Amino acid sequence: MKTLRVALLGTGDIVRHHIEALRSAPQAIEIVAAVNPELDKAQAFCQTHAIPHAYDSTPTMLEAIQPDIVHICTPPGTHYELIIPCLEAGAWVVCEKPLCASLAQMQGIDEAERRTGKYVSTIFQWRFGSGAQHLKNLITAGNLGKFLVGTCQTLWYRDFTYYQTPWRGKWATDIGGTSTIHGIHLTDLFLWLMAGQTEWQEVMAMIGTLDRPVESEDVAMAMVRFDNGAVGSITNSAISPRQESHLRLDFQKVTAEVKALYYATNEHWLYTLPDHSPDQAAFEQWRTIQGNHTGNHVAQVAAFLTSMERNERPPVSGVEARRIIEFLASLYKSAITKQPVMRGSIGPDDPFYYAMNGQPVN
Ligand SMILES: NC(=O)c1ccc[n+]([C@@H]2O[C@H](COP(=O)([O-])OP(=O)(O)OC[C@H]3O[C@@H](n4cnc5c(N)ncnc54)[C@H](O)[C@@H]3O)[C@@H](O)[C@H]2O)c1
Repeated sequence: MKTLRVALLGTGDIVRHHIEALRSAPQAIEIVAAVNPELDKAQAFCQTHAIPHAYDSTPTMLEAIQPDIVHICTPPGTHYELIIPCLEAGAWVVCEKPLCASLAQMQGIDEAERRTGKYVSTIFQWRFGSGAQHLKNLITAGNLGKFLVGTCQTLWYRDFTYYQTPWRGKWATDIGGTSTIHGIHLTDLFLWLMAGQTEWQEVMAMIGTLDRPVESEDVAMAMVRFDNGAVGSITNSAISPRQESHLRLDFQKVTAEVKALYYATNEHWLYTLPDHSPDQAAFEQWRTIQGNHTGNHVAQVAAFLTSMERNERPPVSGVEARRIIEFLASLYKSAITKQPVMRGSIGPDDPFYYAMNGQPVN
């Protein structure tokens, strides 16, 4: 296969994980360009990382370089306006979470994918760890019985200096608050795992802005009902001094859970049978995870590149990317209108179709 030429948009914190993933991939890959709106920063970054071409404009870079792949590592509010021209220029796209700001933008991405025949994959690296993949397979095979109850807790701590970065905590630039930036990882993992058996159907939520200088929320709580009748609770917080990410799923036959702040390996996954269970023999298989790797950018980018080699839709794109965007739009609509929101009910005649806070977009 020919050498794949990759461009990076954004030269801040997260981009180093993309460089590591690209440079450890087995495919022939060259990172040929990086873009930062401030040219001197782009140039310094390119020098540090041995990247030949620095740009201060994405359209100029696309025209000059015509990359095969673009990795978007910029603030959330910029994603959509960058994704569309990259697809139009013939590139496949890897975009950081959250993919876009609204269901309207999701629709725009779907249409651009159809028009160009290229795809966009959102980063949700936790899906790609060995423990998550193992549980997804067990759920999809129906081995664990019916899913009944879930708790999904992202209790993180982001201090005041974190919010000094101008784009953070604002509806326009951060898209939302701790639900869209922090809780999005575990909520996506929860809804994706369960989609092997049942899809979320209804959400009721509250949000609060308690202790950080943000327009959006620094805490959110949501109750979710699935179409098989199961229920779940989701808590997202940026103000919790003892930090924890904990997903617990109770099935008829077993409790499966993972507790690890950012990077879970097999040791962080726990399976528990009820007393006097008849499933002792099967239990040994359920809790034995093949391989042992964390869900990180290396694992997701590897899966993306394999899909690209096969010219197939990559993971975490299309309907697999839309689920969490629709869920977040519904969570915010529920919290702001103080009403439960059913999946599928936010359409083009609804202000929450265009922005997570339901306010007109400039
Ligand atoms: N997957 C994860 O675990 C994870 C972790 C942290 C951040 N993120 C996501 O990564 C993205 C970036 O976060 P960060 O922490 O690296 O932010 P950052 O502020 O450190 O970096 C953002 C970079 O984008 C550049 N930029 C801004 N607008 C641009 C534009 N129009 N074109 C090109 N470059 C532009 C900035 O100059 C900066 O270099 C966000 O979407 C964030 O949610 C993901």
